[in-house]
Amino acid sequence: MGRASRRKKAQPEQMRRDNNSISRIVGRLGVPDSRLSYADFCKRAAAILGRDDVEKWMALERALDERWQNFEYSTFERAIVYRVGWRSWALEVECAWMLPRLREALERHSSESQFLVEIGAGLGAGAAVLSAALGVPVIAVDPDPRTAGMPERAAELTGGEVTSHVAGTDDLAAVLTGRRPAAVFGMGVFRHIQPHHHRDGIFSFSNSIARCIEQETAAKQTVKFFQTIAPSDLLLSEQACPDYVGEISAAAYPTGYEIVAGGLTQLEVAVPGEKATVTAMHFAEGHPRPAKHSLLVENYSPLPALSPGLVVEDVSAEAIRLSVKDAQSLFMTETTWLDGSGTMRREGFRAGHVYGLYEATDRGFRRIKCVAERDWGTLISMARDNEKFMVDTGTVEVHKLAIPVSDW
Ligand SMILES: C[S@@+](CC[C@H](N)C(=O)[O-])C[C@H]1O[C@@H](n2cnc3c(N)ncnc32)[C@H](O)[C@@H]1O
Repeated sequence: MGRASRRKKAQPEQMRRDNNSISRIVGRLGVPDSRLSYADFCKRAAAILGRDDVEKWMALERALDERWQNFEYSTFERAIVYRVGWRSWALEVECAWMLPRLREALERHSSESQFLVEIGAGLGAGAAVLSAALGVPVIAVDPDPRTAGMPERAAELTGGEVTSHVAGTDDLAAVLTGRRPAAVFGMGVFRHIQPHHHRDGIFSFSNSIARCIEQETAAKQTVKFFQTIAPSDLLLSEQACPDYVGEISAAAYPTGYEIVAGGLTQLEVAVPGEKATVTAMHFAEGHPRPAKHSLLVENYSPLPALSPGLVVEDVSAEAIRLSVKDAQSLFMTETTWLDGSGTMRREGFRAGHVYGLYEATDRGFRRIKCVAERDWGTLISMARDNEKFMVDTGTVEVHKLAIPVSDW
């Protein structure tokens, strides 16, 4: 067996060991599993904290006011159940994604950099879990004074070594006093450093990402953040709009940071009664700038192959369309709703034996439908009949479009 194939075989085994290790360590926190339904989560929380406690929490949580947060942070026991337990599966998935990358960053860095930093650590569950899994100290920072001392308590449970500071990323230089961590990581915190700016009229998330990076429209404080942590790797997991990746990349680029190859992915996570998706990003210094469309395509890969019967109705529809290199465009139109509710672009295309209809609106909707040649006429006449009805009733205006999909 050659070296490459040995490495390929070894990889899933290491991944399995990493996943088991993270799962075991998260288990030491003794929190409810966030894959439970809301009702079962509450039952499990009641078994730990008592029924009265959970009923108080449920009442406050429904009211969504400041008192709800204060209640959750009022004791470590509450915080670990309501704040960490609420997203325990997300924590597990995100830590399992970070673990091999952090290990690799530790191996690359010098012996003085054998520590990590978690920003926006909250209770520091991520720091406590990853410190135990990697056997290295982690510094956890969060500006919320209600979290003071909690990361150390979390580390007592996991067997990790965590030192916490009530500090934001602005204060990071003072916390580090010249020491360089091998890597900095954060879960759900970057939006506090650089909020996402929703833009209107976007028919292509991919182009929005590319424009952000080209124009380097970064907030000063975000560039400063990258300067503070350089040359440490940065690992983030964020619930984010698809083009937020572009905004973060734009801030990273002037300081020499790029998303590394294979360092961008969607993770399926869960909180009680709900599934969600998180974007995981790995930035490091000195990596080549990616090709124009690659960030969106990479983020949603692996993508399903183009084949008759394929219907995809979310942002990955755009990634699928852009990943088809040799498509022949058959027609393109732009449909504008006259009540101001939005505009849709539509393209019919052919790629080999597959015929496709791709639609994108300026409100974030994306859809791709693929059929075999024999069904193409039916698909198109249904779309055209519907369009004609809307034109005749004065609902929309339709124009031909001459902009290739890659430039939408
Ligand atoms: C969504 S919570 C995530 C907490 C934790 N990482 C987790 O996964 O449960 C975001 C955290 O970011 C912190 N935060 C807000 N602004 C920050 C800043 N400028 N620097 C660092 N952390 C910040 C908040 O106090 C909060 O604890």
